[in-house]
Amino acid sequence: MKTRITEMFGIEHPIIQGGMHYVGFAEMAAAVSNAGGLGIITGLTQGTPEKLANEIARCKDMTDKPFGVNLTFLPTVNAPDYPGLVKAIIDGGVKAVETAGNNPAQVLPFFKDAGVKVIHKCTSVRHSLKAQSIGCDAVSVDGFECGGHPGEDDIPNMILLPRAADELEIPFVASGGMADARSLVASLAMGAEGMNMGTRFIATQEAPVHENVKKAIVAASELDTRLVMRPLRNTERVMTNEAVERLLEKERKLGADLKFEDIIEEVAGVYPRIMSEGDMDAGAWSCGMVAGLINDIPTCKELIDGIMAEAETLIRQRLTGFLN
Ligand SMILES: Cc1cc2nc3c(=O)[nH]c(=O)nc-3n(C[C@H](O)[C@H](O)[C@H](O)COP(=O)(O)O)c2cc1C
Repeated sequence: MKTRITEMFGIEHPIIQGGMHYVGFAEMAAAVSNAGGLGIITGLTQGTPEKLANEIARCKDMTDKPFGVNLTFLPTVNAPDYPGLVKAIIDGGVKAVETAGNNPAQVLPFFKDAGVKVIHKCTSVRHSLKAQSIGCDAVSVDGFECGGHPGEDDIPNMILLPRAADELEIPFVASGGMADARSLVASLAMGAEGMNMGTRFIATQEAPVHENVKKAIVAASELDTRLVMRPLRNTERVMTNEAVERLLEKERKLGADLKFEDIIEEVAGVYPRIMSEGDMDAGAWSCGMVAGLINDIPTCKELIDGIMAEAETLIRQRLTGFLN
């Protein structure tokens, strides 16, 4: 399949693996890229520019296909060394960057000069237009369904994607709730030129996370995610568990008085315990509603090959069939 996204990133299939905290290590990115998609290393998970440079080098040992790095701009007090991370990406010869969170304008000139293509993840049409106006090459349009941070507008992809298609000139991929060939074909129909998946890629053989995480996703239904941190305007869609229900109880009790410090135990520094050690009740971890569509743990190649083969059947047989 050829779209502006496959052309832009030099990939075989229009499928991107979104950056994921404590999941986006070299093993994950390389597996997706080797299967013909665009794998993404999560920059902030690595911690320092040196460690990111090392992860990029490890990924290059595992694949000769293009892969990218995610740079998430968080509203934190102790800002990560963004200039150092940008330098590690450019020096490492990486040609694709997925930015997310705050406006990436500060880093765009460096990436432009180095010929790095930037796809910015946005949860609204207005942010997508902003990304286009500051010079991003593409957008990942992330609907309300998504795992992680859906923003505060709560617009699902059935509305968000056609709205984005009506307004944007640069190409975009559909993100949030994407799991299979149906997701891809529907996204293409709504104007996207590919799809970005997060949660689906965690439940794969190569995802470098504890087996408990994969099993939890397979066991979960579409009813098992919750929105946390809404009162802080930092909404995150997570898998429900003991810690999340405790967190929500605090939100109900404290109402408008809730502060980040009140929920620090449930959200701060919990990812290594969950993703690496498999302690599934350690805290809140991002997960999409799409868990309800995930029933297996294939290899990335099986997953992507299956999606592409079935997408072709859907388009050539089911959709074309309706016209006769
Ligand atoms: C466990 C997990 C961690 C994530 N961490 C990040 C992150 O650090 N930066 C980021 O931009 N997006 C992050 N995301 C969002 C994904 O990149 C992607 O946009 C999202 O998962 C898409 O929705 P889906 O899960 O329904 O496919 C994370 C998602 C998950 C499930």
